[in-house]
Amino acid sequence: MRITVCFTGLKTEPWVQGLRAALPQASVEEWRTGASQADYAVVWAPPQQFLDEQPRLKGIFNIGAGVDALLQRRLPPQALVIRLDDAGMSMQMAEFVCHALIRHFRELDGYEADVKQGKWSYRKPRPRSEMPVGIMGLGVLGERVARAVAQFDFPVLGWNRASRTIPGVRCYAGQAAFSEFLAGTRVLVCLLPLTAETENIMNRETLSRLLPGGYVINVARGAHLVDDDLIALLDSGHLAGAALDVFRTEPLPAQHPFWRHPKITLTPHTSARTLRDESIAQIAGKVLALARGEPIAGVVDVKRGY
Ligand code: NAP
Ligand code: GLV
Repeated sequence: MRITVCFTGLKTEPWVQGLRAALPQASVEEWRTGASQADYAVVWAPPQQFLDEQPRLKGIFNIGAGVDALLQRRLPPQALVIRLDDAGMSMQMAEFVCHALIRHFRELDGYEADVKQGKWSYRKPRPRSEMPVGIMGLGVLGERVARAVAQFDFPVLGWNRASRTIPGVRCYAGQAAFSEFLAGTRVLVCLLPLTAETENIMNRETLSRLLPGGYVINVARGAHLVDDDLIALLDSGHLAGAALDVFRTEPLPAQHPFWRHPKITLTPHTSARTLRDESIAQIAGKVLALARGEPIAGVVDVKRGY
């Protein structure tokens, strides 16, 4: 069995070595133009030329959870597209979102600013019942985040395409329930995949429906959010702040207003990183399962977009 590794902007060698160790029976090589046909590919942002030169791939393993960028490419029609299925991401996402939520709820930025000025002062504790947290997308990451937030006794709402049942989470399903979900949410967390249906889903109209003093945590994709609408609602006071990990253009351009907005906290797309060892173990297990003709989890529905 032949496996080819093709990344843009990431070091390939440690993955090639790791895959060779995990699959000693396979031939694993970094892709070079003109290379012979492989059975499986392990990719990150592969150039179109790679996909055009490998028309007989059986499976394409994306080393991230989101496949929106990969699905923009012309893919060999018979190849399964397989996303990372947690592989250590959901725990990272849960700690990241809980941290952002609690930093906002406990006003830790305000305390930090006070301390920097040598000020010893208190803010009035807020009841957590007034801080309902609504999570859009109850998939691999969203469900873990919802369960983690519920552990802190915040009211938790979840919105998903298919209906879900998660202990401690009030679940809403489908477009018909979206308004009710937003109207009951003060802290909105986006964990949707980026698809034609979800692009720009956080805009002036939808964000205006959040409870006053709303807070936005976007850890999914930058294109879920309409940047100017967020800024307008922060400036009007309807929204209290935002924690943004993902952006329409990454790295975020130096002149973008998000860098300097006092109510926005930024991180450089780091809320849930791909963990190499966990990912290699998962991919190797799935390659072997496919070779045995067994079904695997994490196969993307290309038409649906995730
Ligand atoms: P997932 O398992 O595919 O879950 C996506 C969830 O969103 C599913 O439950 C799905 O509902 C729901 N959904 C999809 N379209 C919807 C719609 N139109 N309306 C309502 N619900 C919809 O994905 P995941 O692993 O949780 O990851 C989610 C996203 O996080 C990824 O796509 C990626 O963009 C992002 N991400 C970001 C980072 C980072 O570091 N910032 C890291 C990893 C992932 P159904 O159950 O009905 O299908
Ligand atoms: C990161 O953003 C991922 O989709 O894995």
